[in-house]
Amino acid sequence: MPRLLLSGGTVVNSSGSVEADVLVEDGTVGAVGNLADLEIDGLERIDCRGRYLLPGGVDVHTHLDSPMMGTTTADDFESGTKAAACGGTTTIVDFAMQPKGVRLTDALQAHHDKAGGKAAIDYGFHMCVTDLYDGAVDEFAQITQSGVTSFKVFMAYRGTLMLHDGDLFEVLRRSGSLGAQVCVHAENGDVIDRLSADLIAAGKVGPGSHEISRPPSTEVEAVRRAISISRIADAPLYFVHLSTEGAVEAVAEARANDWAVAGETCTHYLTLDRSVYDQPGFEPAKAVLTPPLRSAHHRDALWRGLRAGSLGVVSSDHCPFCFAEKRRLGAEDFRLIPNGGPGVEHRMILMYSEGVAQNRISLEKYVDLTSAAPARQFGLPSKGAIAPGLDADIVVLDPAGTTTISAETQNQRLDYTLYEGWQLQGAIESVYSRGQLVARDGQPVGPGGRGRFVARNTR
Ligand code: URP
Ligand code: ZN
Ligand code: ZN
Repeated sequence: MPRLLLSGGTVVNSSGSVEADVLVEDGTVGAVGNLADLEIDGLERIDCRGRYLLPGGVDVHTHLDSPMMGTTTADDFESGTKAAACGGTTTIVDFAMQPKGVRLTDALQAHHDKAGGKAAIDYGFHMCVTDLYDGAVDEFAQITQSGVTSFKVFMAYRGTLMLHDGDLFEVLRRSGSLGAQVCVHAENGDVIDRLSADLIAAGKVGPGSHEISRPPSTEVEAVRRAISISRIADAPLYFVHLSTEGAVEAVAEARANDWAVAGETCTHYLTLDRSVYDQPGFEPAKAVLTPPLRSAHHRDALWRGLRAGSLGVVSSDHCPFCFAEKRRLGAEDFRLIPNGGPGVEHRMILMYSEGVAQNRISLEKYVDLTSAAPARQFGLPSKGAIAPGLDADIVVLDPAGTTTISAETQNQRLDYTLYEGWQLQGAIESVYSRGQLVARDGQPVGPGGRGRFVARNTR
């Protein structure tokens, strides 16, 4: 393993920024400081003047090689983690989906088998619980001990993914007693199903109906209900992919009461809005993801929520399906379009350009939202900061550079991006995962398969 000296850059942690050199040895950060006089045999010096050295991104919401709505997400662990690396993300926590009728431990093993030997960066798993068969919660202890310390529950998608409130309560209660946490997809699925059926009956079968079938109140109601249930269970709660002002308010109220409630939003809710659903033809299907994109009013509330601390994490919810696949399955009925969109490759640069360069958040807040806070929240103590002893997961970002997003040049295995032609401030130049160069100038470096499963801590 080479020894590297990243010299002359600005090291940015969530706690502050400092001009410093960074010594990388044995895959970890050896020292941070003025190391200009350091003499070590074989030391490779890399000039980072004018660059930011950031802790590698931690994206705690991805769906790689995952069964969903009659198909499978388009990126597997090789393509998805290479794309992540190119975009400055060096750790993902991916959702291991439990198909109905499959034991949790078997579903988890199947996901390990998909990732093992393929991932280019480090990865952990959340366990998605879709079928609470007799004895399912008794497997939680084994799953948690194996380093999968969070469980996801859906309050939508009745018949396939959704758990009813009693099962949500039981998952919360058992997880809480183990020090694990529950990630909740908060939408009122039954109301959405009724609204969707009405739209189909009225002949509104096109992809633009997706948004109308999932109004903001369906999220807010579910968020408030889940908070109430978590209080009864006396268990902490983490909301994935929040998209509305009302949800931010509900989380803020809970946190003001010192309840253990945390909220995540995603890059697309911060950078796009509902106008994509007004596009002609099948085009809106590209943004058939859940919850749907909202009006600019909600987007602004999410940014405020991040600044105020009511929302603490920004993830990608990378859940990619090719446009052609969305059309194949859902051309006649928007309910059948696989729900999800891409994003793991562009989360870091979008948040830099739209957040830091647009003066919405500070550089340190950016690092917190995209790396330090998700690492803290999900029990990854060796990630999320550039500090002696921690993994040398480091991103070299040129603030004076620019990045253009396009489907042609992306590494996500997809025939579209939600950001075609966007020109962004900043460029991610080099990305190191445990001291090894894994991407340069938006291209993967080295083989896949070197990424390790990271067993995560409980709370
Ligand atoms: O659009 C999304 N989010 N797809 C389904 C996976 C999820 O997180 O609900
Ligand atoms: Zn979800
Ligand atoms: Zn998701």
